[in-house]
Amino acid sequence: MTATGNEQARKTAEGLSYSSGFGNEHSSEAVIGALPVGRNSPQLAPLGLYAEQLSGTAFTEPRHHNRRSWLYRIRPSAAHPPFVRAEQGAIRSAPFTECVPDPNRLRWNPLPEPTGPVDFLDGLWTLGGNGDATQRTGMAVHLYYANSPMNRRVFSDADGELLIVPERGGLLLRTELGLLRARPGHIALIPRGIRFRVELLDADARGYVCENYGQPFQLPDLGPIGANGLANARDFLAPVAAYEDIEGPCEVVNKFCGNLWQATYDHSPLDVVAWHGNHVPYVYDLHRFNVIGSISYDHPDPSIFTVLTSPSDTPGLAGVDFVVFAPRWLVGEDTFRPPYFHRNVMTEYMGLIEGAYDAKAEGFLPGGGSLHNMMSAHGPDRETFDKASAAELRPQKIEDGLAFMFETRWPLTLTAQARDAGHLQRGYDDVWQGLQRHFRP
Ligand SMILES: [Fe+2]
Repeated sequence: MTATGNEQARKTAEGLSYSSGFGNEHSSEAVIGALPVGRNSPQLAPLGLYAEQLSGTAFTEPRHHNRRSWLYRIRPSAAHPPFVRAEQGAIRSAPFTECVPDPNRLRWNPLPEPTGPVDFLDGLWTLGGNGDATQRTGMAVHLYYANSPMNRRVFSDADGELLIVPERGGLLLRTELGLLRARPGHIALIPRGIRFRVELLDADARGYVCENYGQPFQLPDLGPIGANGLANARDFLAPVAAYEDIEGPCEVVNKFCGNLWQATYDHSPLDVVAWHGNHVPYVYDLHRFNVIGSISYDHPDPSIFTVLTSPSDTPGLAGVDFVVFAPRWLVGEDTFRPPYFHRNVMTEYMGLIEGAYDAKAEGFLPGGGSLHNMMSAHGPDRETFDKASAAELRPQKIEDGLAFMFETRWPLTLTAQARDAGHLQRGYDDVWQGLQRHFRP
């Protein structure tokens, strides 16, 4: 991308306004009078627009789960040529069958830099996942590395919603419902089926994507925490309507049941002039997360750091949780303060957005990631254990780390490219090998 292109994207991103609140019935019009009043589908929609509903859940799901938006657009989505199969690049999908599930603890360095121009879609690289995209269960972990904007090209994912976690470089997301800016430290969510294009605010961009095939992410229940805390609903920002009125070829790529399909439209499909509904993209600044922890002893399970959860049909058992380890105070008395040793029936993929993570003294890099599959034993490395066991227990601020976890109910199976990657660290097990025997019966 040229410096001028970056500059234009930055200027656009700085001037954006948003509509706030999680799960709200938002409404927005880019042209006054474009949004019908009092009905969704008048005989003639205002301003010569077409009315179209986009459903994120079945029509009949309970009201508190139901997601849909009404779009008022220059052309209906139905006016498109046939889709044909497209190159998959490094994108893979569930069910993941290239490898057998691996019980080993694994850790990767960041993705190698691409050698030529690569946009967000071409730069998606699948690490692994679980479930089945055609059954709308499970999730996939992808990484991306982009140094070029998507030019006259848009993407949509029928298989699931995309939770984008930038680690390097800002993104300008042009979606059917409007524009969003996502910088490192933010997350962006693109709902199932919504078309979008990614432009870059900096020379390049790198990060993580959780593709959630299951129920849409929602805020976790707060139970005895009360009415406030963790991620507060008002800090989630949806776009306001913004449309493109562009005639000319536009490549539309659709991920459907694991495969990429492509069609060349004769116009931009980002032509929604007004909309209302709750099936909306959004951004959230992770620095706004209200971190809650112990003020006596021990520390709670990391579920207390859940930002968003995708519930399953079993209460309390998430298809996938998105969890953040944000700056916080540690004050526990007589407490081993870093994350404890554990074996977890859930599977944990962790990534690092900035700084360092308090359970790993070294080797866990921003842009890298670790996988602790179901029941694999893990916890602090030796250096961290030794230091924390001898530390004077004063109130301590973890100042600068921003790590996250995609925690899922099913084991995660790797893609062949993740298993064979040159950036897979050899000898990750060694970080626990020097733990000394201290038993004195
Ligand atoms: Fe863990």
